[in-house]
Amino acid sequence: MEITFKILRFDPDKDKKPYYRKYTVKVEPGMTVLDGLNEIKWRQDGTLSYRRSCRSAICGSCAMTINGVNRLACNTQILLLKRKTIVVEPLRRFPVIKDLIVDMDDFFEKIAIIKPYLIANSPAGPRERFQSPEDRKLLDEAVICILCGACTSSCPSYWYNKNYLGPASLFKAYRFIFDSRDEGTEERLRIISDRDGLWRCHSIFNCVEACPKSLNPTYAIAELKKKIVTTKL
Ligand code: SF4
Ligand code: FES
Repeated sequence: MEITFKILRFDPDKDKKPYYRKYTVKVEPGMTVLDGLNEIKWRQDGTLSYRRSCRSAICGSCAMTINGVNRLACNTQILLLKRKTIVVEPLRRFPVIKDLIVDMDDFFEKIAIIKPYLIANSPAGPRERFQSPEDRKLLDEAVICILCGACTSSCPSYWYNKNYLGPASLFKAYRFIFDSRDEGTEERLRIISDRDGLWRCHSIFNCVEACPKSLNPTYAIAELKKKIVTTKL
């Protein structure tokens, strides 16, 4: 079956503004949007730019907007979209570097702000820092996050206020604050209770809909809000 890819193109070195360009791709069952983009780049137009690496929904680099929804191109099957035309655009709100490649610096700086590593100053036991299965269960979702940015890019609070930490950063804060081995809870709670922190989340749930790993950052942010109001800082 022939499918039209309508792709938002922009090269800041050449173009005054973004424009759509159409390509026709012969699609077989099982082909993903990433396969379609590769087909275009390798056989029709080598100037098309996009990020990809693992092709297995693990690295998070191929997040983009596909028919208006943030998805991973490598695990979105074209025929399952049931459309003759697939509209592909860069993730919203991040500055475009070229075509579907966006600048993620601000996104990763906000992850770094919450100190995304174990803070444990007391000496470890003779072998390792143990954690009960019940405590580990609290992290089951948060450790799956692949930092693709689909959630933050879909968040109206982030569209409105670029200083807002955003769902991915807060989800990462949850991952360490609720880690029974971590001793940096108060430090992180102070960081995320800042005016551009978790109180900017209005539980709109766009991040939950956008997450390609079916995670729930809104729930994690709600748990963090409860933690803040029950912790003496
Ligand atoms: S929570 Fe989901 S959408 Fe957000 S960065 Fe992690 S994997 Fe991507
Ligand atoms: S290429 Fe790695 S998540 Fe899609």
